[in-house]
Amino acid sequence: MAGGRLKAPRGTFDVLPEDGRRRLALFNLCQALVAHSAGFEYVETPAFEDTELFARSVGGATDIVQKEMFTFEDKAGRSLTLRPEETASVCRAYVEHGMHKRPQPVRLWYWGSFFRHEAPQAGRYRQFTQVGAETIGSDDPAVDAEVIVLLAELLEQARCRAVRLRLSSLGSAATRREYRTELAAYLHSHASELAPAVRERIDANPLRAFDSQDEGTRGVMAEAPKLLDRLEDEDADHFAAVRALLDEVGLGYEVDPMLVRGLDYYTRTVFEFESAVLGAQAGLGGGGRYDHLVELLGGDATPAVGWAAGIERILLAADPDTTGHWGDAAPPRVYVAAAAESAAGRGFALVQELRREGVVAQLEQGGRSLKGQLRHADRLGARFAVILDGDAGMELKDMRTGEQRRVGSAAEIVNAADPEVSGP
Ligand code: HAM
Repeated sequence: MAGGRLKAPRGTFDVLPEDGRRRLALFNLCQALVAHSAGFEYVETPAFEDTELFARSVGGATDIVQKEMFTFEDKAGRSLTLRPEETASVCRAYVEHGMHKRPQPVRLWYWGSFFRHEAPQAGRYRQFTQVGAETIGSDDPAVDAEVIVLLAELLEQARCRAVRLRLSSLGSAATRREYRTELAAYLHSHASELAPAVRERIDANPLRAFDSQDEGTRGVMAEAPKLLDRLEDEDADHFAAVRALLDEVGLGYEVDPMLVRGLDYYTRTVFEFESAVLGAQAGLGGGGRYDHLVELLGGDATPAVGWAAGIERILLAADPDTTGHWGDAAPPRVYVAAAAESAAGRGFALVQELRREGVVAQLEQGGRSLKGQLRHADRLGARFAVILDGDAGMELKDMRTGEQRRVGSAAEIVNAADPEVSGP
């Protein structure tokens, strides 16, 4: 029987060989940077989950849950949903498999297809691909800064053009609750100036008003009270510490109190990378802290932070002839340990510098004693450990021979770590 031609469903696309090459090169870059160089471990979760998972995590009042989910019933009448994002699934898996028993923080990365029933346009699809990284089990601001720097580095190495980073903090859940009430009251008092769609959702989700493109609404929002001005001291300090670390490595950002993300689980740090060459769908990738999500899914209270970035958007924003060739798996060549808490900032900057010089480096993040740090370095198979003291000093320890000596600069470490100098 002759049939008419079929097409790929609306909002989906085929990857043809030309695109396939670029996608694989990008996958290799992610693997080299996120897995091999920064030490994240690859995970996969199912493409569909209980609908309840996303309703609870992403939030019942969000666009994703209200309008964009591909939800269906299986033959036993269970409600299932094609995953619109991965953070909820990763946290579900963390709880389900008792990953709190592993050394914390657990650092995971993923790459896969996601599904949102949105109106298709350039850079916006109903099936798209995300790469993401999540660090679960630490509230250290250095972890926030590390994941942000990691995404910045990925976008830079993928040669994305005209990238800017927006950064903000949402504080604690309690601050946010109080602020929502304050903002809703403010919006009600300006209801006549707001777009109807915004007005209808004042009580359900007042924060989304910051996302509106409507001119009247934007005028109202420019004068609205800002969450960033309502942070409690602890949250403000945390945000300042994240910014200080970004400053330390010279990563530029704009603090943007109007930054809202379309998911409800965030607390404290939120960020988004955009590219000016993308037009309306400017978001390359974003993320933030979600300190209550694991608990919300039945686990212990567990702070966490991460991001996801859109592969199709990275390729749209990248220099068209980006190709790449990246190396194989390697344990860290250098593990940076701190003998004093005051060395944390220095250690953070040193790791970034070593990675820029092509040295596979990792930073202590588990709150271990110095002895524990060196044991961890050994377990990871690090060839060298750098031990930073409380002042400006550092020692380089050869993990194979046990020899330890004072070093004066990152360049000296780069040189000593060179396999030509110290062997494999
Ligand atoms: P998100 O901002 O919803 O965050 O998505 C991350 C990225 O996925 C976006 O910046 C964009 O590049 C891409 N993306 C989203 N929707 C589409 C679409 N319809 N078509 C093409 N690309 C799209 C999350 O998903 C969070 N899970 C990120 C996160 C991880 N937060 C903490 N950890």
